Amino acid sequence: THVVTENCINCKHTDCVEVCPVDCFHEGPNFLVIDPDECIDCTLCVEECPVDAIFAEGDVPAGQEPYLALNAELAKSWPVIAVKIPAMPDAAEWDGKPDKLRLLVR
Ligand code: F3S
Repeated sequence: THVVTENCINCKHTDCVEVCPVDCFHEGPNFLVIDPDECIDCTLCVEECPVDAIFAEGDVPAGQEPYLALNAELAKSWPVIAVKIPAMPDAAEWDGKPDKLRLLVR
């Protein structure tokens, strides 16, 4: 599977959802996740993310391993998103900020 990681939080550009052939993205208030049961590892979304938040399961950056379980968990309760929406208002400001996990809204 592929995994959405920390840098998506408070950015949420949603370019990723437009290319997903299996509609496996789910939307929360300030973050998106990938349903690991639906993702077919096509890799199309990786290049689409303007803030490089999406990784293959085996390439998740050190320290961001918790996002594997988080994607699986939140995909179960958040609705599917398949059409791009505007990025979060301060997306540019939040790109690359550390320790965004504590800001995740469920
Ligand atoms: Fe997030 Fe990047 Fe998609 S910021 S919503 S993973 S395009």
